[in-house]
Amino acid sequence: MFRKDYVAPGFWVDTVEMGFDLDLKSTHVATRMTMRRNHESSEKELVLFGESLKLLQLRMNGIDLKKSDYVIDGEILRIANAPDELVLEIETRIKPLKNTSLSGLYASNGNFITQCEAEGFRKITWFPDRPDVMAKYTVMLRADKKKFPVLLSNGNLIDEGDLGDGRHFAKWEDPFKKPSYLFALVAGKLVCQEEQYRLKSGREVLLQVWVEKGNLDKTQHAMDSLKNSIRWDEDRFGLELDLDRFMIVATSDFNMGAMENKGLNIFNTKFVLANPSLATDIDYAGIESVVGHEYFHNWTGNRITCRDWFQLSLKEGLTVFRDQEFSADLVGTATGRAVKRIEDVRLLRQVQFSEDAGPMAHPVRPDSFVEINNFYTVTIYEKGSEVVRMYYTLLGHDGFRKGMDLYFERHDGQAVECDDFRRAMADSSGRDLTQFERWYSQAGTPRVQVQTTYDAAQQTYDIQLTQSCPATPGQAEKLPFHIPVAMGLLGSDGQDIPLYSETYPTNAGQTNLVLELTEVAQTFRFTGVATKPVPSLLRNFSAPVVLEIDYTDEELGLLLANDSDPFNRWEAGQRLMMRRLVKLTKAVQSGEPLELDTMLIEALRATLNNQHLDPSFRELVLTLPSEAMIAEEFAVVDPQAIHTARQFVRATLSRYLRTDLFQAYEHNLTPGQYSPDAQSMAKRGLKNLALSYLLESSDEQTFSLAKAQFDEAENMTDRLAALTALSNFSGTEEQQAVALKALHKFYKKFKKEALVIDKWFMLQATARTTDVATVRELMTHPAFTLSNPNRARSLAFNFCNANPARFHAADGSGYLLWAELVIALNKINPQVAARLARSLDRWKKYPESLQIPMKAALAKVADTQKLSKDVLEVVSKALAS
Ligand code: TRP
Ligand code: ZN
Repeated sequence: MFRKDYVAPGFWVDTVEMGFDLDLKSTHVATRMTMRRNHESSEKELVLFGESLKLLQLRMNGIDLKKSDYVIDGEILRIANAPDELVLEIETRIKPLKNTSLSGLYASNGNFITQCEAEGFRKITWFPDRPDVMAKYTVMLRADKKKFPVLLSNGNLIDEGDLGDGRHFAKWEDPFKKPSYLFALVAGKLVCQEEQYRLKSGREVLLQVWVEKGNLDKTQHAMDSLKNSIRWDEDRFGLELDLDRFMIVATSDFNMGAMENKGLNIFNTKFVLANPSLATDIDYAGIESVVGHEYFHNWTGNRITCRDWFQLSLKEGLTVFRDQEFSADLVGTATGRAVKRIEDVRLLRQVQFSEDAGPMAHPVRPDSFVEINNFYTVTIYEKGSEVVRMYYTLLGHDGFRKGMDLYFERHDGQAVECDDFRRAMADSSGRDLTQFERWYSQAGTPRVQVQTTYDAAQQTYDIQLTQSCPATPGQAEKLPFHIPVAMGLLGSDGQDIPLYSETYPTNAGQTNLVLELTEVAQTFRFTGVATKPVPSLLRNFSAPVVLEIDYTDEELGLLLANDSDPFNRWEAGQRLMMRRLVKLTKAVQSGEPLELDTMLIEALRATLNNQHLDPSFRELVLTLPSEAMIAEEFAVVDPQAIHTARQFVRATLSRYLRTDLFQAYEHNLTPGQYSPDAQSMAKRGLKNLALSYLLESSDEQTFSLAKAQFDEAENMTDRLAALTALSNFSGTEEQQAVALKALHKFYKKFKKEALVIDKWFMLQATARTTDVATVRELMTHPAFTLSNPNRARSLAFNFCNANPARFHAADGSGYLLWAELVIALNKINPQVAARLARSLDRWKKYPESLQIPMKAALAKVADTQKLSKDVLEVVSKALAS
């Protein structure tokens, strides 16, 4: 599929009426749609898409079509001589129980669930299943009353009743036109927490969170998050909920996080269910942001949707930006915002930068794909959000809001392109954003090199910025990007100095400035600079680039201790650590002795003990770059050496900061009832980080601290942190036995809670001692299954992606396991299989001794019979790299 081949649909659909006779083994679907020719399209035939359907009837304007009236070619059905206006009636039969792909209509614990994005609707009926075809839907659901007491679909319930014979019906009408990917139905045994909610306008709406029986004690946080989302979109963007009823349904069998179906959001249970004894602080935060994300799609995605799937980031990048801002605004404080920003950037760097440097690299608006499901990527979502954030940085808070207002004024009810969004931002602000388009069309992570010159006599300070971008598949040469570089200058006392630049006369005297780098190289001159300053560049991470700058340790120390921009304060600490981690990794490789200098230790001690700093910020500063991040610093990756070096730093810090860590532990206890507020979460975060460092020292005192926390924990955050620390503890045989017992106890206590058992598998998948053999053994555990995506992710994905030193075992056994898992998953669920397939994307970055078994594993998968195009696309791109 190529973006350049876009052709408008030959026919529009105005209304769709659907009737479902729901039966798990065999469901009958009757569809009646009114269609009319799109005279502006070059497509003259009527084109429908379908997959895994049994076609029973096809009727056009009341007349049964004969086999000769249409052509079915794979997934495409063509009617050559359709009139300009028509009514098309289609009857199909589908098999929900046999559908393990979790796309289309499928069964989950005996309930019916649908997932139609991106191309799942075509597994329900033949349809012009493309996002630029928007129609009004009316849906009649009929099912056994006992087995399926609850019948839900998009929009409003307009009728319901008994059908006799033990069956009943419900009729739903969605007043808004929508693309087919936003269609949803849910049927089964469900219960809900519900609430009337008053909008700012005074209108009352009904909010519901639907779950399986026994889970009603876990819905409050999702409900609170939904109400916060509704209020936030009104306050920040003036966007009101357009429906009278808004429903969230939780299901345990789901390929992704959640889905924004109009008025009927369907969620992975992971992002709905929470109570203090089962969910961690991270889970609470995840629920808040995913509930927000899906709710915000109602305007950015549903009211204005995508013209085609190449424009996916139009809705995803923008909606991620919105959910990030939502979470940041809810915390409210400046540090809270910065902490959220740091967490988001960490994810971007760790996963998106890596994607951008591998065989699946693609622009935010891709030019081609084999399987659209493979393009729900960190590039589309997270880099897409960074692109939206750059408009925000360039236009300012009010300027961005004006752009959003114009976007809705122009495009409400339409299916549009990324370019339309950019145009709204440009036209509303009067700014030229032509060059900015390259953020959408060029893949790869730009690098910005910094050179500075201070002239003491002239009191001038020059910052020269040079940009480049590495080649990516299909894109050898790159043109310069329009890069906003937010910055300030620090005096030797660590204070910001006022900025005077001829380029930005209207900003004279301010301490924060956004430089706009548009050329390959540009020099920005500052005047009236009395002493040589320390530059603080790319404040708040104002662009998704790698900033290459030579700081001395002293300069980084000054920034870490003083920068008024908390992001760059954290960044300075990370640079200090990374420098050492890289050096130590090399020392491990060459067998030199490992040493850590006191400068870093003392800088971290000062941060850890700085009571003026928010505990969550201190936690982030004290967190070492992950092994994956360190790997990015090397041309050839040595996972074991990186692991050894990082462990050495952890152990050294544990020893030198022991007293401080014990103190941080004591000072950040959160006695009393659990509360997921920002302050308590911050305390628990720092306390548990201290615990994990302390347990790097194997002695009775640290061990019993963790053991006591595990035994006495009254919330999952503390319990899981303690168990994780215990599982990674290398102590006496006796202590190991106690740790193992804790692991068993945990399982027994929570074996009925699927989401907690996922954590139990995850904890073991990522433990330092877990090797390939241990994973194979865990796979035989009765609670393990590949058919449930959450469970598959908990063990298989976590081992392959988050335990690099063990996964990359020298004998290649990790890759063999990976190949077996991908092949097994491919039969069950191609979307999930293709995600796991990505674990070997970067095989070219490893030493030859690992490349050989990696390539063999990739080839083994590629040669598998009946390989889905999802997996095939991923492994063939990897092999071609
Ligand atoms: N649109 C969903 C979101 O961003 C993503 C999604 C949910 C999805 N389920 C999916 C994408 C299945 C592809 C396939 O929230
Ligand atoms: Zn989304």
